[in-house]
Amino acid sequence: MMPIEFNDVQRAAAEIRAKLGTLSPRVGLVLGSGLGGFAAKITDAVRISFKKIPHFPESKVAGHAGELVAGTVADVPVALLAGRVHLYEGWPVVCVVRPIRTLCALGVEAIVVTNAAGGIDREFGVGDLMLIDDHLNLTGQNALVGDNDERFGPRFVDMTGAYDATLRSRMVDAARATGVDLKRGVYAGLLGPTYETPAEVRMLAALGASAVGMSTVNEVIAARHRGVPCVGVSLITNLAAGWSEAPLNHDEVQTAAKQAAERFERLVVEFVRRCA
Ligand code: HPA
Repeated sequence: MMPIEFNDVQRAAAEIRAKLGTLSPRVGLVLGSGLGGFAAKITDAVRISFKKIPHFPESKVAGHAGELVAGTVADVPVALLAGRVHLYEGWPVVCVVRPIRTLCALGVEAIVVTNAAGGIDREFGVGDLMLIDDHLNLTGQNALVGDNDERFGPRFVDMTGAYDATLRSRMVDAARATGVDLKRGVYAGLLGPTYETPAEVRMLAALGASAVGMSTVNEVIAARHRGVPCVGVSLITNLAAGWSEAPLNHDEVQTAAKQAAERFERLVVEFVRRCA
């Protein structure tokens, strides 16, 4: 299966390259729930529907459009994925990470992952942005299970610096420069699609999680396999289950994302500028 996967990724990358002409993206971004508006910040944007990219999986979740957008931000060539697919949709993990592997195949030097998450750290409020310092992969899956294809990377992957120290301090600098308040913490990635029970949230707090979501961790694993440095930002769209009286719902997640979009976009534009 893995030799085929490498070819599929190469084919997807070749199709994208053919549409981008001379543009060679240096930064790859993945936009989480409700954060797709960042795509409008791209100059001379080339938009490619996931439908038109061979082997790309397509999400059906509201708020996940499903297109690759490439162009420049602050004169830095970028490619972003607006809309990811999730394990909870039933996709095998190899499909979940295919778009990330494709960004890596395009030659990006850094990947910015973003997501919507529930706040576990008691200091966090709705609308906060959190720099991901590290993660807990609690999905019960790992993108690298199965025969290893050395063309992607080694069998055993160091995850010590999964979220790159240099890129993280660049994000902190970007936050300071733009006046955006940036919290930091550990992201717990769960399978979903249910939100957590209050008991699960207490467990996650005890495990050292600051925020919880249903994405990102396997994508970062795949990028690290390939040796591409990552940085991540979570938007806290709600307090985690049991931390407030209110039940959780997806509308609330999307509303919070819309309200934070302007700050998020300012932060990420400044980060990309600093990647020049
Ligand atoms: N839990 C899991 N995923 C989420 C949450 C949450 O509270 N909020 C947004 N995505």
